Amino acid sequence: MNILNKLSPQFKEFLQEEGIDEEIFLFEQTLRYVRIKPDYQITFEQLQQQVSFSMQPIHEIPKLYSLPANQKINNLQLYKNGHLYGIDKSSAAVVYSLDINKDDINVLEICCAPGAKLTFIADLLRVETEKDGIQRKVFGVDISQNRLNITQSIVNKYKLEKYVELILQDGTKYKNQIQFDKVLIDAECTHEGSIKHLKKYIQKPMHEQNSKKQQKNNKASKKQLQKNYTNTYTTEQTKANEWTEEDFNSRFLDQKKLQQIYDLQFSLLENGYKLLKQNGILIYSTCSFSQKQNEDQIIKFLEQNNDAILVHPFYGMQEQQCKSGQIFNTVRFDPKVSNTGGMFIAKIKKL
Ligand SMILES: C[S@@+](CC[C@H](N)C(=O)[O-])C[C@H]1O[C@@H](n2cnc3c(N)ncnc32)[C@H](O)[C@@H]1O
Repeated sequence: MNILNKLSPQFKEFLQEEGIDEEIFLFEQTLRYVRIKPDYQITFEQLQQQVSFSMQPIHEIPKLYSLPANQKINNLQLYKNGHLYGIDKSSAAVVYSLDINKDDINVLEICCAPGAKLTFIADLLRVETEKDGIQRKVFGVDISQNRLNITQSIVNKYKLEKYVELILQDGTKYKNQIQFDKVLIDAECTHEGSIKHLKKYIQKPMHEQNSKKQQKNNKASKKQLQKNYTNTYTTEQTKANEWTEEDFNSRFLDQKKLQQIYDLQFSLLENGYKLLKQNGILIYSTCSFSQKQNEDQIIKFLEQNNDAILVHPFYGMQEQQCKSGQIFNTVRFDPKVSNTGGMFIAKIKKL
């Protein structure tokens, strides 16, 4: 489906303003991805025997596999037993770029919900702890109670409670005495990289998006939010997988809201960096294609922080997996090139 023809001229204006190539939206993702718990012993042949469809290992990221995009995983025994997770390859690459290893004791993820990356980090920490008995933890901060509830249920399902601490807070204000070994800021963004969501939005007739019940829900959660966190942009007013017309317009067409997102991203980056220890690594990622939300934020941040340097997120990923961002040492998972949802990744080291 050519979704470009269905999107408003204002949305196209947004793409132009943000330096986003329209062509990206013509791409149809044909694969989805799953990962197996790092210490679950199963060979590729055994795995293939347990499922009725074809899987392919993604060699760069251990225990990550591709499968056809329309393949359901909920009825797989491996999924029900908590050995298999659904995660996009670009999201798995964000965690891979953190390079979690035995020296990482405390890790922080700001904007952690619903927890695809957080649970991956927790799994990797658990493996190290089970080797040497040293307790490790990932602290997950998010501003949305609803989304943190989902995160908690995933953490419980995969029995990761000992390795995760969830915190309901504005990530721009979060403080802790701990200086973290690694910090991930998977920043709130316009999410237009999520073509799946864009498609859902334009496929739904307008009256369905604006049902009375939904409008009521939106109003209620908005009120709750304003009570707790004023002047903060969040996705709280929409349910996890739904985009209302109001939400869509405010993401892309409202200049004031856009500016709030840019400001929020930069403040999250600044606060995350404050909480990072010397020689620590911070990853900044978004699922937007926008230069303003990605490269421009990094350039501004480096200009203001002399002790921060950009390092390549991971070596060895081939060009067909991801391509360079607009500045040296950043990468972009462009859906067309990588058969993933969109993702930008920058890796910053604190000297
Ligand atoms: C891209 S999603 C994160 C996805 C998540 N990292 C994962 O991999 O499952 C962005 C998240 O940022 C959260 N958020 C928005 N504003 C925030 C703020 N000021 N502080 C903390 N979290 C915020 C949203 O509630 C949302 O859960």
